[in-house]
Amino acid sequence: MQSYPLTEDQIRDYQENGFIALPGVLTPDELSELRAIAEEILDTPYEARVETSRNNAEYEKIFVQKVNLWQVEERIRKFSLHPRLAEIARKLAGAEHIRIWHDHLLTKKPGDSKPTAWHQDRPYWPHNDTGQLSMWIALQDVDTRNGCMGFVPGSHRLGPLDPVNLVNPQDLYPHVEGKTSEDFQPVFVPLKAGDCTFHNALTFHGAGANTTDQPRLAFVVIYMPDGTLFTGSPHVVTEGLNLPAGEPLSGDLFPIVG
Ligand code: SIN
Ligand code: NI
Repeated sequence: MQSYPLTEDQIRDYQENGFIALPGVLTPDELSELRAIAEEILDTPYEARVETSRNNAEYEKIFVQKVNLWQVEERIRKFSLHPRLAEIARKLAGAEHIRIWHDHLLTKKPGDSKPTAWHQDRPYWPHNDTGQLSMWIALQDVDTRNGCMGFVPGSHRLGPLDPVNLVNPQDLYPHVEGKTSEDFQPVFVPLKAGDCTFHNALTFHGAGANTTDQPRLAFVVIYMPDGTLFTGSPHVVTEGLNLPAGEPLSGDLFPIVG
């Protein structure tokens, strides 16, 4: 495997700011392959556990979400379990081994598009540990016109706050004692197709609406350190699996990838 040339400075930067942009994590061939599959499956119907945004028209104005595609689409699997990408995640997380929590394809459709409200990811997940991180790969160039991601540097140090309702968003900032939005200055991160960002699950992040006439396609893989414990709280990914609370998430559904 050809490793991505991740530097010690980039690892420090990620740990300091809670996010990092990395250029060219996919080769041009990989990018065209993944983009073609993503475009093809955009309108493919899946069962409800995959197509989690279906029947929620307001949610789909923020993004259309297809979850755990690696389990149902052979052609997506190699990207979700990609050793070069997983190795970057393992190094950034500083973990001995990492597992996949889930992947998803997040598409901001053109038209009546809504911003992704500022939020942390960790409060939505049935995990009692931290250290999870999301890789967000742009499948076309992104900037503030079509919903590139923005991050609040250093916000991962504030710890887990209450989850924000993305459809009916509240302002995240008052959840932090004594703070208002004035205290937080986000950085928006335009990317070229095939570049990605990684962000810590506690980092405040969001995205603007897609104001262009083309869909904004992003392929996201969420990794967690090996040993992350399941709390038993309900979540679409663990629904129906009868997993024991208090035990690590492990096995074939959460494989070690790096
Ligand atoms: C987005 O793609 O708009 C948001 C992704 C995220 O919340 O991680
Ligand atoms: Ni998020």
